[in-house]
Amino acid sequence: MVTIAVDGPSGSGKSSVSRAVAARLGLAYLDTGAMYRAATLWCVRTDVALDDADAVADAVRAMPLTSGLDPAAPTVSLDGTDVAAAIRTTEVSSTVSKVATNLEVRAELKRRQRAIIDDEATGGFSGGRGIVAEGRDITTVVAPDADARVLLTASEEARLRRRSLEVHGAADAAAVAATRDQVLRRDRDDSTVSQFLQASDGVVTIDSSELDLDQTVAAVLAVVEQVV
Ligand code: C5P
Repeated sequence: MVTIAVDGPSGSGKSSVSRAVAARLGLAYLDTGAMYRAATLWCVRTDVALDDADAVADAVRAMPLTSGLDPAAPTVSLDGTDVAAAIRTTEVSSTVSKVATNLEVRAELKRRQRAIIDDEATGGFSGGRGIVAEGRDITTVVAPDADARVLLTASEEARLRRRSLEVHGAADAAAVAATRDQVLRRDRDDSTVSQFLQASDGVVTIDSSELDLDQTVAAVLAVVEQVV
């Protein structure tokens, strides 16, 4: 069984790359960002004020979240209802850092992520083959013991272009400008609680600025091949 941890800032391509690596190796895929997004949506839907740190932590501890780990079709559900689209709205994207910087929320989601990773080691979706988990603190906090640990980076220009294409379907100057503030603010806020702007000891950095998806996947697979 193999555990692969991938971290990176917004727009680094870590979700697409991690999914492709998991699919290629027959592993489960865990998008931990989706869990933080679902936690934010859960608070909004249950009328919990995001400024009330204790209430947010209580709500997240009680959150009925299920993560589907198939890299071909990952899912995220609250109370059995699919929320894949609802967690990608601008409202959630612009408020998720507030929930993600709550240390009690981080402790609860780390516990759940660890449980999912450990379950994949013995059975789970992958039948015990293992998992690719991606986010902001996987290489450092959630799975510092992972077999392969990768920090995926890209220049600010490349990251803004990708995010802009994803959110607005275009990467002209106006579309990039519209995503810029949110992306940079989110990375700044997130980096106050997680170390994903530089690699920690033993973590391999892959800069994808000049690479396409296939080339980035190949670079991650090359790192994995050295350790398994
Ligand atoms: O990866 P994605 O952009 O969907 O992540 C959404 C948010 O979830 C991040 O901006 C960050 O606030 C939070 N997050 C985190 N730790 C992780 C994964 C995501 O704090 N491991």
